[in-house]
Amino acid sequence: MKIVTIIGARPQFVKASVISKALRQAGHEEILVNTGQHYDDNMARIFFEEMGIPKPDYDLGVGSGTHASQTAGSLVGIEEILIKEKPDFIIVFGDTNATVAGALAAAKLHIKIAHIEAGLRSYNRDMPEEINRVVTDVLSDLLFVPTPVAVENLNKEGITSNIHVVGDVMVDSLMIYTRIAEQKSRILDDLKLEKDKFLLMTIHRPSNADHDDRLLSILKQASKVDLPVIFPIHPRSRARVEKLISKTAGNIRIIDPVGYLDMMMLEKYSKIIITDSGGVQKEAYLHKTPCLTVRGETEWVETVRDGWNYIVGDHLEKISILSKDFPEPGEWNPHYGDGQSSDKIVRLLEENLG
Ligand code: UD1
Ligand code: UDP
Repeated sequence: MKIVTIIGARPQFVKASVISKALRQAGHEEILVNTGQHYDDNMARIFFEEMGIPKPDYDLGVGSGTHASQTAGSLVGIEEILIKEKPDFIIVFGDTNATVAGALAAAKLHIKIAHIEAGLRSYNRDMPEEINRVVTDVLSDLLFVPTPVAVENLNKEGITSNIHVVGDVMVDSLMIYTRIAEQKSRILDDLKLEKDKFLLMTIHRPSNADHDDRLLSILKQASKVDLPVIFPIHPRSRARVEKLISKTAGNIRIIDPVGYLDMMMLEKYSKIIITDSGGVQKEAYLHKTPCLTVRGETEWVETVRDGWNYIVGDHLEKISILSKDFPEPGEWNPHYGDGQSSDKIVRLLEENLG
C-alpha cells in the first residue's frame, strides 16, 4: 500500500508517532506530509525527536494565520502532492485545519480518505474543530472511531457504513511513552515537584485564551489552590498570560511547552489536571488523574460519566473548589482501547484496499 499521511499540529505528531511505525513495520510505503501549522521547536521538533517520527517527505510551511489561510495553503500543497504521489489512501487525524484540508483535497481527486479519531462531536459549532470534524467525516471512506459513542454520533448524521471501532491511537502512544518517560524524564526533579502535590494546567482554546476577563478569572481560581500549578504555556496564550499573571498569587508556574515524555510525567503525577485540551482530558483519564475541563462540553463523554472529569463551564469557582476536594471518582473503564489501535487500523486499511 502507498499511504499519504497528513500532520501539522501537536496532537497530530503524537498520533502519527504510532501509526507511522505500524505502517512501516507492516512494509507499506508512507509519504509523510507536514503542513507546518505548528513550527516552534517545543511544539514540533521535540516530538519528532522523542517519538522517532520519520522526517516528513514534504513540509508545506503554512505556519500561523487565519483559518482560511492555513486551510487554503494546506489544501493547495496537499493537492499537488496527491496528484504526484497517487496514494491508495490518505490518512488524516483528528480535527485541525490540516485534517479538513487533507480530506477536501483527496475527495476531489477520488483518493480514499481514512479518518483516524472520526465521529467525535462537541455539538458546539463555535469551535473550529467541530466544523473540521463534521466536514472530514462526511467525506471519509473509512472512519476509524475510538468508541461506540462516536458511532452513534455518526449515525445521527446519516453516516452508517465503513465505521470501525478501533480504540484510540493515543492509548498506544501513551502506553509506550509513559514507560520510557518513567526512565528518562527529569521534569519532576527539575521543577522540584512531589508526586500528587502539584497541579497541571493547560489552556489554549480561543474561548479561554483569547479573552482577558475569562483568562484572568481562570488564573485567579487556579491561584487559590495551595499547591504549585504547573502551566506549560501554548504560544497562543503566552502574551496574554504574561500580561495578567502579576494579578494572581505566586503559585502558578509558567513554563515553555514540554515534550511528550515530560508531559506524561506531569499528567500522571499531578493531583488534578485543569485543561481545555481534548487530548489532555483523555490522557488524564488514562493516567487516572481527575480532570477539570474549562469548557462548556466535552467530546470525551465517558470520562465525565465515570466521574473522572468535571465540566466547569462558566462556573469557574469550581476550579478552586474541586482542585482542593475532587469527589471520589467512579469505576475506571478501558473505553479507549488496549493500546493496539494502530495495528488494527493498518489491518483494516489492507483489507479495504482496492
Ligand atoms: C490548533 C488546532 C487545535 C489544537 C491545537 C493543539 C485548528 C483549527 N486548531 O490550535 O484543534 O487543539 O492546535 O495545540 O487547527 N503559535 C506559535 N508557534 C507555533 C504554533 C502556534 O507561536 O509553533 C502561535 C501563533 O501565534 C498562532 C497561535 O499560536 O497564531 C495559534 O496557533 P494555531 O495553530 O493557529 O491554533 P492552535 O490554537 O494551536
Ligand atoms: N502536549 C505536550 N506538551 C504540552 C502540551 C500538550 O506534549 O506542553 C501533548 C498532550 O499530552 C497531547 C498533545 O500534546 O498528547 C495534544 O494536546 P493539545 O492540547 O495540544 O491539543 P488538543 O488535544 O486539544 O487538540
